[in-house]
This record gives sequence, structure tokens and C-alpha cells, in this order.
Amino acid sequence: MTTLSVYAEQQPQQPLGVYTEFAAIRDQLAQIGVEFERWDASRPLSATAEPDEVIAAYRDSIDRLNAKYGFVSVDVVSMHPDHPQAETARGKFLSEHTHDDFETRFFVDGAGAFYIRAGGKVFLTVCTKGDLINLPANVTHWFDMGPRPDFKAIRFFRIPEGWVGHFTGDAIAERFPKFASAA
Ligand SMILES: [Fe+2]
Repeated sequence: MTTLSVYAEQQPQQPLGVYTEFAAIRDQLAQIGVEFERWDASRPLSATAEPDEVIAAYRDSIDRLNAKYGFVSVDVVSMHPDHPQAETARGKFLSEHTHDDFETRFFVDGAGAFYIRAGGKVFLTVCTKGDLINLPANVTHWFDMGPRPDFKAIRFFRIPEGWVGHFTGDAIAERFPKFASAA
């Protein structure tokens, strides 16, 4: 289930609030400049859908977002628990960082957790199938795909290398609960 847990950044033991309704999650994230949407597929998709098929199914929503933000390319990333690079992939963005470009992900399937730090709080957003999350450039965050990563997501790009992480060196991510699953 899609869930937003808001913590004081010094108190990772107990969230200040937990939200599961779409409108509440959208409104909380909007306050820190993060956009959250729900998208529906225009056609049924199988679990084995190829990237082109996935992109075609969400073409209208993708085009709208591209027009709004000037994204110039999209791709589809797939992770599954048996992926040989699963552990490496999980570790890559597990520490707090920023990017020079938007980090924009649409979850076609599965789940993953964004931890967004803003205004002295941490917004732990577990995204699941149908969720679009759009973090502007320079927002401090980290991402946990869990010990058994299982998701398929469309990524949006505006500038080459915009996805490169600039790590803050802050160990805050180690103090917060890791993502296990969205169940
Ligand atoms: Fe990131």
C-alpha cells in the first residue's frame, strides 16, 4: 500500500504522522515541493511487458509531464529479487544525496521507498503501482528498494547525467527504518 510517514529528522523511532489516502499524501508532499500523482494504464499490461509496451500504455500521461517539465527522454528500469545486481543497485542511492535534475519515477509495478528530507522532517514515501513521484533538483533524499527489490518504473530525464548523485555525507539514512516491503 502507498504510505507516507512523516518524521522529525531527529526522531526516526516514531513518525509524527502516517498517511495512506492519496489526497493527503499529495498535499503533504506538495508542501515540500514534491509532486505526487496517480496514473492509470490506458491498456492492460502483463508482468512481462517490454519497455516500449509500458511506455505506450502511459503515453498520454508521459507526454503531459514531458510538456510540463521539458523531459527529453524516458526509459524503464526493472528490478527483481533474483537480479544479479540487486544488492549493488540497492546500495547505490541508499545514502542521502541530491541531483542536478529532477528525479521523477512512475511505478508501473512493485514498490520502493523515497526518503525526502525537508524543513527538519523526513518524508518516507512508499510508492507502489500507479504512483508518480517528482522530486525537483537539489532536494535531499535517499531511496531504498529493499532487500528483495521488486519494481518496474519509468524514469524521466531532462539533462544528460542529471541522475548522478551528489552525496551529502550525512549518515541520516542509517538512523531511519529500512524499507522491507509495501505489504
Ligand atoms: Fe536520487
